Amino acid sequence: MQERILDFLKRKQDYVSGEDISKHLNVTRQALWKHIQELRDAGYDIVAVPHLGYKLESVPDRLFAFEITSRLNTRLIGKKVYYFDTLSSTMDIAMKLGMEGAQEGTVVVAEAQTKGKGRLGRSWLSPKYKGIYFSLILRPQVLPQECPLLTLLAAVSVVEGVRRKTAIDLQIKWPNDLLVHGKKVAGILTELKAETDGISFIVIGVGINVNNDGKSLIPSASSLKECRKEEVSRVELLQEILRAIEENYTLFKEQGSAQIIEKWRNDNVTLGKRVKVIGRDELLEGDAVDIDADGGLLVRNDSGMISKIMAGDIVHCR
Ligand code: BTN
Repeated sequence: MQERILDFLKRKQDYVSGEDISKHLNVTRQALWKHIQELRDAGYDIVAVPHLGYKLESVPDRLFAFEITSRLNTRLIGKKVYYFDTLSSTMDIAMKLGMEGAQEGTVVVAEAQTKGKGRLGRSWLSPKYKGIYFSLILRPQVLPQECPLLTLLAAVSVVEGVRRKTAIDLQIKWPNDLLVHGKKVAGILTELKAETDGISFIVIGVGINVNNDGKSLIPSASSLKECRKEEVSRVELLQEILRAIEENYTLFKEQGSAQIIEKWRNDNVTLGKRVKVIGRDELLEGDAVDIDADGGLLVRNDSGMISKIMAGDIVHCR
């Protein structure tokens, strides 16, 4: 009911009498008052003036499921959103939902994570109401070795979503660190449930520093607010990113990986750089020359030998 009341108030954009709302939404005046109180407690600024009625003055920047799904206009991605105030990690819940058969496109979002996970066993700092932390369940018909492509797809989609909402051009450092002026603003983590003949589902986790203040971040990190010098609506940004994922996922399913790889090439800062690859037990240094069709990074060492790197981390040398 609260969603319907909000929707009604948002449409009116002016005072509307309690009687009108009650009649339209078939709710008693007493119940309406209770719902309005609960919406106020959640941060919605709803004023009530005698003889005029209620007016929605402002909406809080909270990632409530109905704020994300309303006017999202996607067909698959974000049709179902699970919202949590605080969670250990959205990855764990999304993996669990995936096992239980959750539909493709399901999103798990949290305002804060107490055990946010990064790549390679690192942690992801997830302070409340500052960033965007979400995990998305996809069920693509690909082989496990093709999954890195979906991580690249997520990276280019975040770049596009951020560009549309903020006009900031993020740059991708292989495989999927998103940087602004050389500092990390967002990261992507992928986990999958594989069978012998394909994958059952993949969970793509995205963490973005949105409205974090510079002093709360480590020196190698930044936030969109730091870059833009003003706050960014997390709801609108997340919506743009989900729309971009839908566009790119459709492209990927209909036309394969070529265009996704091309977009990645256009937005990356790794190709052409001297890099050090920090693998499990070997350290390789060379020039990053290209990525291949399955997302692996091709590095040429000083003897001219090319190695394909599928996982791990790199350092840009110069
Ligand atoms: C990285 O760059 O190391 C990847 C960071 C991924 C962080 C996101 S936040 C949402 C999702 N839940 C997690 O615990 N991790 C990912």
